[in-house]
Amino acid sequence: MKVLILNGSPRAKSNSVALAEAFAEGARSAGHDVETVNVAKFKVTGCLACEYCHTVGGGKCVQKDDMQELYPKLAEADMILIASPIYYWGFSGQMESVITRFYAPGKPAAKKYALLLSSGSPGVYDGPVAQYKSFVSYFGAENIGIKTFCGGSQLTAENLAEMKAFGASL
Ligand SMILES: Cc1cc2nc3c(=O)[nH]c(=O)nc-3n(C[C@H](O)[C@H](O)[C@H](O)COP(=O)(O)O)c2cc1C
Repeated sequence: MKVLILNGSPRAKSNSVALAEAFAEGARSAGHDVETVNVAKFKVTGCLACEYCHTVGGGKCVQKDDMQELYPKLAEADMILIASPIYYWGFSGQMESVITRFYAPGKPAAKKYALLLSSGSPGVYDGPVAQYKSFVSYFGAENIGIKTFCGGSQLTAENLAEMKAFGASL
């Protein structure tokens, strides 16, 4: 399978990036083709709702920004892991902008999705989990797992092993 990981943390020593990397290691060990894109480094704004894409644009977005790098990957991936820190009970702003930009080409090809959320506190996941489940269902795809991690020491051997095993189980 072609596995695409979208990392939404702008932090250098990010928990979610390290946990997603453990997932990638497991998936590679199981023979999958894994690519990671750090969307937190993207210069993107959210969808402008101009409808260029669905009128004259033929599914292409009018905004010629870093999303152009991601669109071909969204068209090819079989499975997508969305990895994000929790910011104010939601996805990071960068991840949220990227998700709204899925609008131009329409539903991504991937039929499997997973979610990884990292937060300071427990019990802060309802908003992004509900949003994720809704768009995965709208895409006609399957949710294969939701992993949440919180607190000051998230990069434990146990958590990293859990993510590696998850990747290897694909
Ligand atoms: C702008 C901002 C907003 C945050 N909002 C929340 C929040 O609402 N709830 C929470 O538990 N943690 C919150 N946090 C803490 C992060 O979610 C937490 O440090 C997380 O582990 C960061 O993930 P990362 O290391 O992958 O960047 C916030 C951090 C920042 C910088």
